Amino acid sequence: MKIILANSYDEMSKKAAIILANQIILKPDSVLGLATGSTPVGTYQELIKLYDVGIVDFSNVITFNLDEYYGLSSEHEQSYSHYMRKILFERVNIELENTHIPSGVPEDIEKECLLYDTKIDSFGGIDLQILGIGSNGHIGFNEPNTRFQSMTHLVDLNYETIEANKRFFSDNEPVPQKAISMGIKGIMQAKKIVLLASGKGKADAVQKAVEGPITPEVPASILQLHADVTLILDKDAASQLQGAICKKSAS
Ligand code: PGA
Repeated sequence: MKIILANSYDEMSKKAAIILANQIILKPDSVLGLATGSTPVGTYQELIKLYDVGIVDFSNVITFNLDEYYGLSSEHEQSYSHYMRKILFERVNIELENTHIPSGVPEDIEKECLLYDTKIDSFGGIDLQILGIGSNGHIGFNEPNTRFQSMTHLVDLNYETIEANKRFFSDNEPVPQKAISMGIKGIMQAKKIVLLASGKGKADAVQKAVEGPITPEVPASILQLHADVTLILDKDAASQLQGAICKKSAS
């Protein structure tokens, strides 16, 4: 695992955007695995700036998002489809038909999941996967004790995740209890992975993921086995790491 320390959320975002931009410049038809939540918002903003000045061209880029809330249509304001359109897709020259997000209202859930994995394969797999991390160590919506062999699947969100997601919903709006998420095996099949974490609330999960045992209790710990993982951490997210390695790689 390579660890890049950033002094702030903004610096983390800039570093992540540069890695994404570099990926697209080197391979204009890159298949990107994208994440939602609050962590990557700054990264997408930085990427849009690079697009605005002509450094990045999304016209041939393909994207697959990690997850979608089960029960929310793509038009729902809290759906990740809506999030992606507003935060990134409508602000760059990506072709919407090149963007993929699991349907939150599939007719047949099993078919939808299988189709999603098949589509990723049909594009040759994900070149670069962006990940956040839950304070419980989840990646995508793969909660603790998800099987490492899982592919795209329907997930019961656990209490911590539902509580964390409440901040995006208004008071009387029900918060989804389930989601469709790429599985852990699917994530591990990406050629490169970049995980972003910011804030003290992530410090414990980051420490366990990087320095703890590889265990389904901490889904992100599987990343220790991946050949090309970069973690970009702000100081707070890195604050519980014990190893000297992270201090050395500060830049
Ligand atoms: P966050 O979520 O970026 O909103 O903190 C990350 C995650 O739960 O994977």
